[in-house]
Amino acid sequence: MAKVFVTRKIPDAGLDLLKEKYEVEVFSNTKNPTKEQLIEKAKEADALIPLLGDEIDEEVINKCSNLKIIANYAVGYDNIDLKAAEENDIYVSNTPDALTETTADMTWTILMAAARRVIESDKYVRDLKFESWGPELLLGQKVYGKTIGIIGFGRIGQAVAKRAAGFDMEILYNKRTPLSDKEEKELKASYADLPDLLKRSDFVTINAALNESTYHLIDKEELKMMKSCAVLVNTGRGPIINEKVLAEALADKEIFAAGLDVYEEEPEVHPKLLELDNVVLTPHTGSATVDARNKMAEMAAANVIAVLSGSKPVNQVV
Ligand code: GLV
Ligand code: GLV
Repeated sequence: MAKVFVTRKIPDAGLDLLKEKYEVEVFSNTKNPTKEQLIEKAKEADALIPLLGDEIDEEVINKCSNLKIIANYAVGYDNIDLKAAEENDIYVSNTPDALTETTADMTWTILMAAARRVIESDKYVRDLKFESWGPELLLGQKVYGKTIGIIGFGRIGQAVAKRAAGFDMEILYNKRTPLSDKEEKELKASYADLPDLLKRSDFVTINAALNESTYHLIDKEELKMMKSCAVLVNTGRGPIINEKVLAEALADKEIFAAGLDVYEEEPEVHPKLLELDNVVLTPHTGSATVDARNKMAEMAAANVIAVLSGSKPVNQVV
């Protein structure tokens, strides 16, 4: 019987499909394996389902060359050395689409929370500071009718744009290959180069994948281009922003606020960010809805089943 190693408990919606056909081992409910533990288990398995916190590097792959598929439980796959996988004839798959709308919802959740200072307001009430209505109490930034700049305009970025249209916003986007005129019209979005987008936007959201061209895309110079009333949101990958420089810009009020779901050294968060009121912090829960996580589990299982039955993965990366 083929063996599947899953590094962390994923929803039964996917596990049950696998258990019907294979011997399935789940490492733990609460923590990811160390590299040594990962290798020990995966080298005996035919399929591996890792999470984005599992670094599947060249060493892991070379030592587990018996694997037929690495079915990442994520849309992003920057945790996997694709070249090493290809060289060992191991398929890599991801879970696109399953989490597009859920992650776009989260982008808006932290955008609004940062703009309207929801976390500070909640704390204010709990600290029993709410003694009277105040004309200038906890003033935030208006969202309706403003300009949003979306960096990375794949499925998730476009889903963010659809929601922005409902707020009658001007929608700018930046992406390596601009969309066709027809697609832009449908989404009511216009292409802008990065400096132009940063200068014009009241809200900047990052919905790009992490790769060499996006690492520290937002650094000191880029933050300086942004408006002082601007809100920066990241539900993509942490290293796209230079986190230390962002913490300084927020402390100096160079921009109004930020909403971050992802971090440079996850699960570490820059200590300076933890002290600031003008940043909303969430623990990489962009895709954390019951619907999305079940769907992701089903997709990861379907990718494993396809490969172990002799076909290609449904969501093949390499
Ligand atoms: C989440 O960040 C994912 O890539 O699925
Ligand atoms: C994910 O769904 C993306 O935007 O590529």
